[in-house]
Amino acid sequence: MEISNKIVGFFIASHDTTSTAITFIISYLAEYPDVHCKVYEEQMEILWSKGEREHLNWEDIKKMKYTWCVVCEVMRLSPPANGAFREAITDFTYAGYTIPKGWKTFWTVHTTHKNPKYFPEPEKFDPSRFDGNGPPPYTFVPFGGGPRMCPGKEYARMEILVFIHNVITKFKFQKVIPDEKIEYIPSPIPVKGLPISLETIHI
Ligand code: HEM
Repeated sequence: MEISNKIVGFFIASHDTTSTAITFIISYLAEYPDVHCKVYEEQMEILWSKGEREHLNWEDIKKMKYTWCVVCEVMRLSPPANGAFREAITDFTYAGYTIPKGWKTFWTVHTTHKNPKYFPEPEKFDPSRFDGNGPPPYTFVPFGGGPRMCPGKEYARMEILVFIHNVITKFKFQKVIPDEKIEYIPSPIPVKGLPISLETIHI
């Protein structure tokens, strides 16, 4: 039972989070043509720098700077994971509340990401927030923080960037349902699975 619990946990931690991130990236790119255009340009530059049938490599991933800013801003506004539990290892006071040692607490990604002190106009979609050094530590926590931070973070980064590269350089896409409702189970997911229409790009 313990082994099967771990396997299911691993599938949810690795697959559901990454597919949710990719789903929302596609959704935001479809909604913001100016951002789509800049991601497209960055990815086409990488594509043109490569020989025919040459695969992406780690150097190419490192060049995807603007695309990663977009991914971060999507995960800030629509985080794939809602948070996680921590146990208080000592008594502490936060915002006037005393949390005794031993209590289980749940830290939330959503509220952390909407703090106007670090993210002015927090509801605004603005990938430039992640230019340069980006926000201070522990203000942007889609992968958690501290010693139990997501161990799949770098793998997820590579998987997401490779996916975007392949989709955006090959297809134009549009949302089929403009204002699709989102449900949380517990990751956010569009109720109809975000259907999109694809058109092949001929270069
Ligand atoms: C966009 C993709 C992903 C997001 C947003 C995400 C987010 C998270 C978050 C918030 C945590 C809790 C961290 C904490 O408590 O501080 C976590 C833990 C974890 N993640 Fe991810 N994750 C992603 C992808 C992956 C992938 C691809 C894998 C594996 C290949 C993975 C494996 C794990 C595991 C095993 C844990 C538990 C770590 C522990 O408790 O020590 N995750 N992830």
